[in-house]
Amino acid sequence: MKQRVVSGMRPSGRLHIGHYHGVLENWVRMQDSYDCFFFVADWHSLTTEYADTSGIAQSIRDMVLDWVAFGLDPEKCVIFRQSLVPHHSELNLILSMVTPVSWLERCPTYKEMQDNLETKDLSTFGFLGYPVLMAADIILYKAARVPVGQDQLPHLEITREIARRFNHLYGAVFPEPEALLTETPKLPGLDGRKMSKSYNNSIYLSDTAEETSKKIMSMMTDPARVRRNDPGDPDICVAFNLHRLYVPPEKLDEIIPACRNATIGCVECKKILVGCMNERLAPFRAKREELAANPSFVDELLKEGSRKASLISDAVMAEVRTALKF
Ligand code: TRP
Ligand code: SF4
Repeated sequence: MKQRVVSGMRPSGRLHIGHYHGVLENWVRMQDSYDCFFFVADWHSLTTEYADTSGIAQSIRDMVLDWVAFGLDPEKCVIFRQSLVPHHSELNLILSMVTPVSWLERCPTYKEMQDNLETKDLSTFGFLGYPVLMAADIILYKAARVPVGQDQLPHLEITREIARRFNHLYGAVFPEPEALLTETPKLPGLDGRKMSKSYNNSIYLSDTAEETSKKIMSMMTDPARVRRNDPGDPDICVAFNLHRLYVPPEKLDEIIPACRNATIGCVECKKILVGCMNERLAPFRAKREELAANPSFVDELLKEGSRKASLISDAVMAEVRTALKF
């Protein structure tokens, strides 16, 4: 029996290569060794986007196209949409009854996010309760493992506490899920800051070869390397972080000394990177175009995946109601 894995992503639209190397690539790898459930966390989007929901539908479509084009296989894992499985909401309600508000208030991401997104009013009940919904997402499938980044660890800890509390009050229904910490390579954006949609410094999985080339050619390098004859240092070159991911090691062994003694220029060096990136991404991008040509592909996929997810969640909710003597 394979262990069950559950993880979700908020629909943030087209994914950039940071999402790919940080999260998606990992999901793809796990499909064979775990019983995987991956979902579009669209209700989670409402915690921050409630005032304008107009972009969510398109974001879901774009994100799911990336998921499948870049390797998630609906034959190997269940791909679904949270809001198509209303049990998430029912379990969220029940868990909210047993979750002390103080656990949520002291969650480090709570204050942090409120401060970071100060243009939005996040003083809502739903935003405070976000970790409860996340707990529901996970334990609804009795997940054993949850692949998450470092930033989500406090949420997973709350999930475990909520599961423990439920079990203590009503009997042992839920296993306590464990984090599968994904080590994320540090991936800077074009300007050297963290790659992020809001900084407008991202390279998207679905960018064309030309767009990729244009972006890479404008990417920051070693700031000390002003003229062609100045020696550079790959260790502080922003673009070189991508070289490490895409350029074969033999080639890196040539580039590194050549940069240090200024026998290669940044333009030439970046062209090597562009060639390697486009070559590697091309088959996925072609697949994405093929999938996108069918306008109902994503809807049908999510409908079918959500049906499969409901088979599990339905049985677990029956256990929950029994435990509650409802
Ligand atoms: N909170 C996660 C994020 O913002 C998304 C998420 C929602 C999630 N529910 C989840 C991740 C359940 C793992 C498991 O990235
Ligand atoms: Fe970076 Fe390459 Fe320029 Fe060196 S030559 S600074 S590694 S882009």
